[in-house]
Amino acid sequence: MKFLEEIEVKGKTVFLRVDFNVPLDENLNIRDDTRIQASLPTIKYLLEKGAKLVVASHLGRPKGQFNPKMSLKPVAARLEQLLPGTKIIMAPDVIGDEVNRLKAGLKEGQLLLLENVRFYKQETDNDSEFSKKLAEGCQVFVNDAFGSCHRAHASVVGIASYIKEKAAGYLLKKEIDYLSKITHNPEKPYVAILGGAKIEDKIPVLESLVTKADALLIGGAMAYTFLKAEGKQVGKSLVEDDKLEIARGIMKKAEENRVKFLLPLDHVLTASIESKEIAKIADSYPLPDDLIGVDIGPKTIEEYKNQIKAARTIFWNGPLGVFEVEAFSKGTMEIAKAVAVSGALSVVGGGDSIAAIQKAGVADKISHISTGGGASLEFVAYGTLPGIEALE
Ligand code: 3PG
Repeated sequence: MKFLEEIEVKGKTVFLRVDFNVPLDENLNIRDDTRIQASLPTIKYLLEKGAKLVVASHLGRPKGQFNPKMSLKPVAARLEQLLPGTKIIMAPDVIGDEVNRLKAGLKEGQLLLLENVRFYKQETDNDSEFSKKLAEGCQVFVNDAFGSCHRAHASVVGIASYIKEKAAGYLLKKEIDYLSKITHNPEKPYVAILGGAKIEDKIPVLESLVTKADALLIGGAMAYTFLKAEGKQVGKSLVEDDKLEIARGIMKKAEENRVKFLLPLDHVLTASIESKEIAKIADSYPLPDDLIGVDIGPKTIEEYKNQIKAARTIFWNGPLGVFEVEAFSKGTMEIAKAVAVSGALSVVGGGDSIAAIQKAGVADKISHISTGGGASLEFVAYGTLPGIEALE
């Protein structure tokens, strides 16, 4: 795979795929521009080197329909603020005559932002005709959209067949470098912390980590599916009853590989999340029928901190409790702080875990905060992604 700096871009029309899937509020203001900031080095480099830049991204899931609420216009406005002096042109569409005319009219150092590529169903279908139309008029394809690389979509994968010269941007390279360090040859002990509501989206990464990590620390509601799979009665806690067999299989595999698979030793319980109040902290079963587990308890925090202290490599995805509620946030906050002071190579991925790291005020002490949630999980599971393969 080539890297951006290895290719000649001066005077060329470059199709740059970024992940500008940023959160918008009800007035379509950008709530968090981290993903735009993260691709600025690539954009600036290309503009400075005299590329005629065509930038493409998705935003949300418009399901193949034009939807003004998911337009990239707010992103164009933000780019104008972030790139003073650069001519930013907002395209009215993704493909077609008007877009081709705008592409052809671009001068060196100018930027054309296409509309949301997912306004076309052919994008998510990875349709080859659509990929070809995206590529029209472009001589170079640069992918900097790490957060989208797990999607075999037209602007991520399909287009690569229609543009010969292709490369990874700075963000994609940085993400691959860090995630490769933890995936391909992690310094041991390698500790993975997995939380969040469901095991459903995490099955491939769990299957992989139970063969590669030294310890898995499980938290969040998904811990209750594992605990129930062990035969424990977990009260009203969220359980994926259709995943109990899978959960048993994962724990068995961990045991066979002598990977420590740690589940919470105690639980912060509430009568309802809305009450925002702790009803009880319990360290024995059955948990009361009318209570829900919403955070790991103090014994678990201590145990997990000890594992984290010994780690040389840490991967973290998903909060360990309902950390948005102050009373249920202690476990996630303590773990965030422990990761920050561990001295290990630490990689955190996933929107919620990033928010937790920011809430704990330790973002600057994490080796790498990935811009990809699903993408980082799949990279850790498979060691590569469709969007990365397409650049090979
Ligand atoms: C993300 O937010 O994780 C990426 O932008 C991918 O979005 P998607 O899950 O809608 O494909």
